[in-house]
Amino acid sequence: MKKIIAVDGPAGAGKSTVSKICAARLGYTYIDTGAMYRAVALKCLLSGKSVDENLIGDIDIRLDNSARVFLDGREVTKEIRTPEVSRAASDVAKFGFVRKKLTELQREMAAQGSVIMDGRDIGTQVLPNADLKIFLTATVEERARRRFAELKSKGLAADLAQIEKEITLRDKQDSEREIAPLAQAVDAILLDSTHLTIEQVVAEILRLAGV
Ligand code: DC
Repeated sequence: MKKIIAVDGPAGAGKSTVSKICAARLGYTYIDTGAMYRAVALKCLLSGKSVDENLIGDIDIRLDNSARVFLDGREVTKEIRTPEVSRAASDVAKFGFVRKKLTELQREMAAQGSVIMDGRDIGTQVLPNADLKIFLTATVEERARRRFAELKSKGLAADLAQIEKEITLRDKQDSEREIAPLAQAVDAILLDSTHLTIEQVVAEILRLAGV
C-alpha cells in the first residue's frame, strides 16, 4: 500500500539527513522540496532576472534516487547548496505562483509511490492527507553548530556567528511569509532533535511509521 510521510521544520533541523536514511530503510522515494526551491533560485541567479511566471513556466526540475538534482537537464546538486542560493531560495519561496508550480510537481511526484517528503509546508499544504507528519526542530544554536561542523568537515571556511545570523533570518522569513509559511500541522508530531543523535531521530520516525 502507498504510504506518505511528511517531514517539515526549520532550516538545519536535520530533515534531509534523517529523511534520506528513513527512505532508504523503508524502500520509499525521498523528495527534497527545498532542493526544488533552490533550483528555481539558481535559475534566477544564473539568468540575472527576478522570478516571474515566464522563468518558472517551463522549468524542468528532476530529483533522482541518489538525491541528485537536475535543473533544465543539467546536474546542479552542489551548485544549489551555496549560502547565496539559500538566501535566494527563501526569497523566491514567498511568491504564490512559484509555490503553486512546485506544489503541483511535488504532488505528481508523491502520486508515483510511497514517499518521504521534506520541506516547510508538506504537512500543511502539499500533502495534507499524509499518513504520518513530523515537525522536526532544534534550537537555533544547535542548528548553527551542526551546519558549522558540516562545513568544517568539508574543509570549507565557516563563521559560527554568521551562520547563526543567517539561520535566524531564514527562520523569520520562512515562518512569516503570507503564503504557506513554515508551520506545524495540527496533526503533526513534534520532534525536537536538539539532544538527539541522527540515529535516535531515525529510530523514532520509523517507530512512528509503525516499522
Ligand atoms: O530546506 P532548504 O533549506 O533546502 O530550503 C530552502 C528554502 O526553500 C527555505 O528557506 C524555504 C524554502 N522552502 C519552502 O518554502 N517550502 C518548502 N516546502 C521547502 C523549502
